[in-house]
Amino acid sequence: MRTAAKVRIAGTGSYVPDRILDNEYFTRIVDTSDAWIIERTGVKERRIAPESQCTSDLAAEAARRALAAAGRTPQDVELIILATSTPDRIVPPTSVYVQKKLEAWNAGAVDHIAACSGYVYALSSGWNYVANRQVRNCLVIGSELLTRIANYTDRSTCILFGDAAGALLLEAADDGSSDILYSKLAADGRGEHLIIVPAGGTALQLTDERRANHLDTIQMQGREVYKFAITKFVELIQDAVKALGVTTEAIDALIPHQVNLRIIESAADKLKIPMSKIIVNIDRYGNTSAASIPVAIDEGVRAGRIQRGHLVVAVAFGAGLTWGSVALRW
Ligand code: COA
Repeated sequence: MRTAAKVRIAGTGSYVPDRILDNEYFTRIVDTSDAWIIERTGVKERRIAPESQCTSDLAAEAARRALAAAGRTPQDVELIILATSTPDRIVPPTSVYVQKKLEAWNAGAVDHIAACSGYVYALSSGWNYVANRQVRNCLVIGSELLTRIANYTDRSTCILFGDAAGALLLEAADDGSSDILYSKLAADGRGEHLIIVPAGGTALQLTDERRANHLDTIQMQGREVYKFAITKFVELIQDAVKALGVTTEAIDALIPHQVNLRIIESAADKLKIPMSKIIVNIDRYGNTSAASIPVAIDEGVRAGRIQRGHLVVAVAFGAGLTWGSVALRW
């Protein structure tokens, strides 16, 4: 019988578009203020991609950077998993455009859609493919163009979202102590209405009238989502440390989905995890859904805040409702 392979993160990369939307911009289009946005969300600015860029462009650039960091070429890649809720098209999967742009002709390609939890679902899948030795490596990418599905007449949501992509290259590596140790994936479909893009799928097709009513953009019950996110954040960490047989003190780097700075600070306080161990970039990028965790990981690695031997835990929660975590020895 084959034994499971250990899985190492061989390289990380991220990419954000150049153009910045600061809070001042929103004061010109909706009834809001820089002070309100910073106090309630922690967001100071976010990025917006030009029309010429699509989700696969951001993803391919993040992937190139992860491959360069790992010293690998696109031809080395055996599987691409892309987490996104803003695909280039409904068909085919966006991951095939990434494969084409990278010229990674030896790679299989599949998309994972689980909203803001998409990256932990994708990472967990990638871990299983590599640990089961079905592939020797897997590029796990999160890429989102949320500015394309934001409603710029709704002040309670449009201020939150930004565009970004991040990527990790997972490799089988039986030497050393690096490994993915634990993952939890969960969902509760009874909360499907809490964060929703109502039209554009098979349930409600897009018409001119529905577009005029913004039914092709994100609608959210912010308060409900806020309470859900704090509860799940705390539960996920408690479950992870219990399963690993450690306490929260053992966590060297915590990477939460960048949902709202107040949510992150409140959960950190409840868990007694110092903010110095938590990687936060919501101030610069806003909520980038499935891209937020790999971007934060890449920034943590490049800043030396995530190093070999560290216990790293990523937690996410979002539309669905969905939530999940991944813990790894870096
Ligand atoms: N500027 C000024 N006022 C705003 C505003 C804005 N951009 N957005 C909402 N408000 C107003 C509301 O209209 C409301 O006014 P009222 O009291 O007169 O009715 C007031 O601020 C409070 O609204 P509330 O929704 O209770 O605020 P909040 O403190 O919960 O903050 C969110 C709103 C959206 C920032 C917050 O709920 C949140 O971050 N939720 C999680 C959202 C998320 O990121 N989800 C993504 C998927 S994980």
